[in-house]
Amino acid sequence: MDAVDVPRILLFLLVLNIKNDVIVGLHITKVRVPTPLAVGEGGWLECEFVDEGESIYALKWYLGLDEFYRWTPAENPPVKTFPVKGDPLTVDIAASNRGKVKIHDVTLGASGVFRCEVSAEAPDFHTESDVATMTVVALPEEDPSIRGAGFTHQLHEDVMLNCSSPRSQPPASLTFYVNQELADPSWLITYPPLEDPETGLETAILGLRFPLRPRLLRRGSISIKCTASIFNLYFKSTEASVHADVPFHASIMVDRAATGLGVPGITSNVFFLVVSCLLLLLLTH
Ligand SMILES: *[C@@H]1O[C@H](CO)[C@@H](O)[C@H](O)[C@H]1NC(C)=O
Repeated sequence: MDAVDVPRILLFLLVLNIKNDVIVGLHITKVRVPTPLAVGEGGWLECEFVDEGESIYALKWYLGLDEFYRWTPAENPPVKTFPVKGDPLTVDIAASNRGKVKIHDVTLGASGVFRCEVSAEAPDFHTESDVATMTVVALPEEDPSIRGAGFTHQLHEDVMLNCSSPRSQPPASLTFYVNQELADPSWLITYPPLEDPETGLETAILGLRFPLRPRLLRRGSISIKCTASIFNLYFKSTEASVHADVPFHASIMVDRAATGLGVPGITSNVFFLVVSCLLLLLLTH
């Protein structure tokens, strides 16, 4: 072999050695957490492993840096739990075993990285760990609502409305519908969520601004809907109508304008102009 091959062979042996370490002995096959959860809910944390003949010394669950659960098969009782600052979750000790842990009453503090760590007995104390992320949602404290500067407007005036979904974490995603259709994106005004300084909960606000065109009117009004959602955990909607303030004769014009006959004011002007020209022609001949 030439000189170039020597580093290559060394690299190959090294890779083989690393691979051996991973395949032989203890390794984690699955780490799963229930996500997303609403505040107060619970579920199962799952950490599965194969020991490949190694004896397990301990399996530990951490939330961030804090260990809250330990299973040590050689000890009695095998399951222990540890308090975590702020009580982000409660472990059901009786229901939990090995890597499978039943939790309930989660708070926002339980959002974060959960780590399962499995270690083997002496002499090598081989340790493996893997993580999964959990999101805890504080559902909005109130249903979404639509507010505006009054719900009756003059034709061609701008309609300005806000939809808000009060105090949740994360803030709700808001969507506006106008006459059952998704609102034109150019009509939307996005505002940063308002944060409650005490609780950290956020109020989502979305603005809608559009000119009140006759073609939008359905029997004199426009229906507006706003939906608020958070992941697959929350979905609520609310509706309002905007009315056009049109006097009776004007509303007939509006209906004509809406059906494509043009604005009567302009039509009569053109008519007047044509009659004037005809008269002028007759007089000059
Ligand atoms: C909509 O909300 C924004 C942000 O809070 C506020 O500045 C604006 O005045 C509101 N508009 C209406 C029509 O309520």
